[in-house]
Amino acid sequence: MNEHLLRISEKIENLRQQIRYHDRKYYVDDSPEISDYEYDQLIKELEALEAQYPEFITPDSPTQRVGGQPAEEFATVEHRVAMLSLDNTYSQDELLDFDNRIRKLIPEQNIEYIAELKVDGLGVALIYENGKFVRGATRGDGEQGEDVTSNLKTIKSIPLTLEGIGLNLPMLEVRGEVYMRKRAFQDLNRQREEDGETVFANPRNAAAGSVRLLDPKLTASRPLDIFNYMLSYVEGISLKSHWESLQIMKEMGFKINPHTCRLSSIEKVMEYCKKWEGKRDELNYEIDGVVVKVNSLAQQIELGSTTKSPRWAISYKFHARQAITRIDDIIIQVGRTGTLTPVAVLAPTPLSGITITRATLHNEDEIRRKDIKIGDTVIIERAGDVIPAVVSVIKEKRTGQEKDFNMPDKCPVCQAEVYRPEGEAATRCTNSSCPAQIKEHLHHFASRNAMNIDGLGPSLIDQLVDKGLVKNAADLYFLNVDQVAALERMGEKSAQNLINALEGSKSNSLARLIFALGIRHVGIRAAEILADQYSSINTLAEAKAEELQDIYEVGPKVAESIYHFFQQEENKMMLERLREAGVKMQEEKTQESGEQPLAGKTFVLTGALQTMTRDQASELIKKAGGKISSSVSKNTDYVVVGESPGSKYEKAKKLEITILTEDEFI
Ligand code: IVH
Repeated sequence: MNEHLLRISEKIENLRQQIRYHDRKYYVDDSPEISDYEYDQLIKELEALEAQYPEFITPDSPTQRVGGQPAEEFATVEHRVAMLSLDNTYSQDELLDFDNRIRKLIPEQNIEYIAELKVDGLGVALIYENGKFVRGATRGDGEQGEDVTSNLKTIKSIPLTLEGIGLNLPMLEVRGEVYMRKRAFQDLNRQREEDGETVFANPRNAAAGSVRLLDPKLTASRPLDIFNYMLSYVEGISLKSHWESLQIMKEMGFKINPHTCRLSSIEKVMEYCKKWEGKRDELNYEIDGVVVKVNSLAQQIELGSTTKSPRWAISYKFHARQAITRIDDIIIQVGRTGTLTPVAVLAPTPLSGITITRATLHNEDEIRRKDIKIGDTVIIERAGDVIPAVVSVIKEKRTGQEKDFNMPDKCPVCQAEVYRPEGEAATRCTNSSCPAQIKEHLHHFASRNAMNIDGLGPSLIDQLVDKGLVKNAADLYFLNVDQVAALERMGEKSAQNLINALEGSKSNSLARLIFALGIRHVGIRAAEILADQYSSINTLAEAKAEELQDIYEVGPKVAESIYHFFQQEENKMMLERLREAGVKMQEEKTQESGEQPLAGKTFVLTGALQTMTRDQASELIKKAGGKISSSVSKNTDYVVVGESPGSKYEKAKKLEITILTEDEFI
């Protein structure tokens, strides 16, 4: 390898190490040290180098998490150590029985227990050879599972390369539970509802479904995470206790649940179980119990296993949060993008501390599938959601008086026609100025992560829309104190407060504004990335879908949706009115720099620059109003070519794009 290539390969390895370090900080330790923007820059730099020098790409590179072709089906793999299941207990007495059984089997020994939260997801086995992640499989029937390596690689909290001692171990296997956080589960279901797809019944199904998707790119778009709970096989080290193995796993970079406890008696275990049964709602992921394990590995071996489950462990299952109630009515809610969602109105019933009066029924197909009728007695369940779902109908309780539910053919709010697109489960209102859609839109616009407008609550929004004072978000900024003060439950003072809050929101960051617009598929994270890249609404509005797709983390669906949004006449008008009202439409940093000689120009950088790093060059371009893209297309204005340029240079020549040397660029 020549000097130059050696430098490049060192640079690549160095970037990978930095990214791995920050992946661990962010995804495993939950304590990020750099901003998302800085992280994205590292990824971009690595991607660019790897694109130019593909010979240096390795399967464990952080850029290779999402890759490979969609599979036809998963290969079957034999587990090295059978993945046993656990005996279940449902009462404190049964925990005492478990402790007694153990004391009988290994008398006169001190028993220490490890108590772990039983996260409700999908069990997987991860195999590492010489510190590299080589295979991941589902539990399957315990003997054989499915090879889901490509999908598991997309989970950022699964290390592709181990740290410390892990690097020197020829082979090891850890077990863990892949799960989806409650919020992510709700967002995913809401999205699927909007898109007319079937919804997942609970976070476990969502996690399992996502791990078993045939296209790893789709899995990558699902926010999955993992807690590892067992070192099931290792060569090269000897361990004394389960606790010790958890510490070693942590050191190697695996994510371990922080609530795992070492306890000296079964009484303490019982306390732990009671505590978490009461506190489960405080966690941002679902748990369905506690797993209790004998800590000493020597004792574990002595106790052994039956064919089904180990004698040294047990799972204490929480009581399902289900209740029986009656569906008094089914009403329709109209969402921000016009989706009609059927909601069950329930006879009020208590369920784990709150009174339930509503349950979502998601869409027409769900109602058919579960055969739900108005008047039915049903089982409802809270699953990772504040709004519970109907699990099933108790058909024996039917009296014959129950009524079928039919989706209305007119929007219940604005009476416009509704339609159900071919192949979708969602029924939509066709009227984009439907008051229900406007209200949802305003609610989103004012929300905490969006424009954060204090005092603009649901009842005020209802009145503003119903009285015709506000037809879109821009109208808010043209309200005056008198108009607001005249509304119900409003006085001079609260009206003035609202006007002040609106005034204050005008100088919000660009990212907040982009998020607030409520573009389909654009969450807060995507909004931040877009704000970074475009620095003004104008340049974003002009971006073509292909160009948007070039941005790291913006997929085709998102790009298409952004492009579509800015093409709509009514959106163009609303943006114009927001500008007129004085809402900040661009990032300050570009305003400060005054001149924007590169406004609207797109640059691609290729090859190593001599006088500055790629980051510095990117910064300069952005400061002058230009944009950076990672690939050359006909939308590229300039390609800056450094030393040893790669295929981008060739492509630029072919497309006859202006090529700049480093000197010319400066
Ligand atoms: S230990 C031999 N620990 O619960 C030991 N399992 O039936 C087997 N689970 O599908 C498992 N959290 O995926 C263990 N902290 C934990 C767990 C856990 C969740 C799942 C596991 C398995 C099921 C046990």
